[in-house]
Amino acid sequence: MATAVLAYSGGLDTSCAIAWLREDYGFDEVVAVLVDVGQDGDFEPAVERATAAGASDVVMLDRRQAFADDQVAKALLTNSLYEGRYPLVSALSRPVIAEAVADVALDLGAEAVVHGCTGKGNDQLRFELAFAAKYPGVRVIAPLRDRIWTRDEEIDYALARRIPVEAKPDKPYSIDDNLLGRSIEAGVLEDPWVEPPEDAFVLTSSPASAPDPIDVVIGFDEGLPVALDGEDLDLPDLIAALNAQAGVYGIGRIDMVENRAVGIKSRELYEAPAAITLIEAHRALEELVLTKGELIAKRELEPRWAKLVYDGLWFHPLRS
Ligand code: ARG
Repeated sequence: MATAVLAYSGGLDTSCAIAWLREDYGFDEVVAVLVDVGQDGDFEPAVERATAAGASDVVMLDRRQAFADDQVAKALLTNSLYEGRYPLVSALSRPVIAEAVADVALDLGAEAVVHGCTGKGNDQLRFELAFAAKYPGVRVIAPLRDRIWTRDEEIDYALARRIPVEAKPDKPYSIDDNLLGRSIEAGVLEDPWVEPPEDAFVLTSSPASAPDPIDVVIGFDEGLPVALDGEDLDLPDLIAALNAQAGVYGIGRIDMVENRAVGIKSRELYEAPAAITLIEAHRALEELVLTKGELIAKRELEPRWAKLVYDGLWFHPLRS
């Protein structure tokens, strides 16, 4: 019995991948692992889709707290902004998801681990480097890289197998989100002359419609934010509250052209109001309490840390 364990997002690509793994790659068992890192979305229809596609099991794992306490906390301590601007939203979640998948695969003694990334982005590297660190030697399969499918081909394929396809029309952008924020790319955004359409944004309003300024007091303990205006909050709740407070001012709305690890330039939008606010506040705190030499050294290392994480090297000893 050959088993494959898939990093399952609930979307059309990874739903079809379940059927491909059985039909084209010859696996008897496909286990879909759906990791909650605070993304928006409905998990119930996702589980139904995976089952309809032929998953032998759907494992739901809530990793929100672990993600906040490990990846997000460290990114805040390091004031991480890739290329000076991107607070690593998606890059931080990949090692969490990949490690969860590798753990399930190890438990089951599975032959293969599978991700739904294409060959164009950074995420394939992040998954595969994490798989290599957490399940050395395991076979890695990337069905969306092995064969390029159009969305219409996938819909036909899914319908022919009675895999429920979401009724809503294709989203005009590719979106990835978690408790730290949102990444938005593709579609009309690929033309750098095109101003971001307002409908691309969910967590931020235009600064043009900002309300009157307010003061927010952020309490830190050992360099980590622990309170807002005197109220103790754990990190996921603090981020959610601050996303709402800062987002209405357009803080954390980012429009950039970034350099991917694979050598492609890419227009990206991000929304991370809390991350941008917290990094600014944390830098100010460091100015107050670090020595001159510490500050200089830390500001040199921060972009290197961000680049390691961006490039998929979360589990590299240099990163820790
Ligand atoms: N370019 C960003 C990164 O590499 C986001 C990747 C995922 N974004 C997406 N919209 N699917 O971290």
